[in-house]
Amino acid sequence: MRLTRRTALGLLAAGGAVAAYGGYSWSQAGMSASARPLRIPPLDTGILKEGKRSFDLNLGKSTSRFLGNFQTPTFGINGDYLGPTLKFRAGETVSLNVFNTIGEASTLHWHGMHLPASADGGPHQVIADGASWHPGFEVKQHAGTFWYHSHMVPRTGYQVYHGLAGLILVEDEHAGNLGLPRDYGVDDIPLVLQDRRFRDNGSFEYLSSMHDSRMGMLGDTLLVNGTANPYFVAGADTLRLRILNGSNARMYTLAFSDGRSFHQIASDGGLLESPVRTGAITLGPAERAEIIVNVGDGRPVTLQSSTPPQGGGMMNMVMGDRTKFDVLEIRPDEGRKSAFALPERLAVLETPDPAEAVRTRKFTLGMGMMGGGMMGDGGGEMTINGRSMDMNRIDEVVRVGTEEIWIVDNPTMLTHPFHIHDVQFRILDRNGSPPPPMEAGLKDTVVVPSGEQVRLLLQFADYTDPDLPYMYHCHNLEHEDAGMMGQFTVVA
Ligand code: C2O
Ligand code: CU
Ligand code: CU
Repeated sequence: MRLTRRTALGLLAAGGAVAAYGGYSWSQAGMSASARPLRIPPLDTGILKEGKRSFDLNLGKSTSRFLGNFQTPTFGINGDYLGPTLKFRAGETVSLNVFNTIGEASTLHWHGMHLPASADGGPHQVIADGASWHPGFEVKQHAGTFWYHSHMVPRTGYQVYHGLAGLILVEDEHAGNLGLPRDYGVDDIPLVLQDRRFRDNGSFEYLSSMHDSRMGMLGDTLLVNGTANPYFVAGADTLRLRILNGSNARMYTLAFSDGRSFHQIASDGGLLESPVRTGAITLGPAERAEIIVNVGDGRPVTLQSSTPPQGGGMMNMVMGDRTKFDVLEIRPDEGRKSAFALPERLAVLETPDPAEAVRTRKFTLGMGMMGGGMMGDGGGEMTINGRSMDMNRIDEVVRVGTEEIWIVDNPTMLTHPFHIHDVQFRILDRNGSPPPPMEAGLKDTVVVPSGEQVRLLLQFADYTDPDLPYMYHCHNLEHEDAGMMGQFTVVA
């Protein structure tokens, strides 16, 4: 029997006895996952061909075992679930050969990368089932953690949920010389956080209620790189965790079980100017952070998450989801590599200067009836500036070689993670106040809480295309699929 959400919440309130893992039906069936070694996605460095680094990516259909003996139907890229971690070097040209065999049309988008619109992999670069796509571009990024995922309107949420996503690591010479941990899977560890919900037959449950479509898809089981309840045996005192919130809709506030502090060293688009010492970080969907944590005391410690409140008051009481998860148990090994000293200065970033902007645009997010004060699942359209995404409408045209200020205004009752293709932007302010240090670096996705206005400074460089647009959208994938997305072109 599947417990309804209400019964389960009642049980939680009554005894708090439902395990964080396994969700309601799994824990009922005694299926709570016992700890398993963290799966590390294979590292793919490609093959050098005619001066280009070339990667073959096959999008396929498969099944995966996450919990118990159940087989979950999934999508994967060169594997059963998720894809390999692609390693790019700044300055190189990459070429990607994407084959689609998932049984339906798809796309593959290189999230966070600065590239020509034709190579972006957005909704206009559809790969029919059985077809392939061969984009290429120069890697014009700083070292950092990026990702790739399906962007198939209006199936993005479904396809990503079932596994069409993977990480991209960009390296450059400067970052390579800082001495940061960079032994992939040993002291440089990717963590893709995804919450999922399972049906009793083991398949993923996706969009089974109005609540799911309005709030976005929230799960009761956390997968990290596709592993439920993972542990990691640390072979070094200093670990670099590259964390991607790869969830459709959930936000995570991450902290360690013993309250130890750590340093954030990178945001979406690369290294921060200096490490930021903190006890907790919050990531909205699609955001990344790299953190450095020291486990030199030899004691096991668990990275844990809670979900910050959505909107305020009533809204959060009625619709909020405060599920807590254990993300990763870290077990320090004997004979670990010893700690290294974190440099005081990581990167030099341009000081963002709003006076450089040639124009300001405003993007107001909308959720139909909900924005009008209804708290229920009343339906209503997901919009930006009052309009839902239309593939045939270019919403904004910007000039190459210019800077602009974009204001994202959220009068709705939910938080929205706003993402812009092609650029790494800077946050000028939130409701007039400068961003905290961990948000002062390069960003491609910004969390915009209910009632906030965020000002961004964007620089449009290099590539023009009068016909093919880039996207900007809410990265809550259910909101995106429902139309909270728009298109811009960059022209000469
Ligand atoms: Cu992560 Cu429009 O994408
Ligand atoms: Cu993107
Ligand atoms: Cu949204």
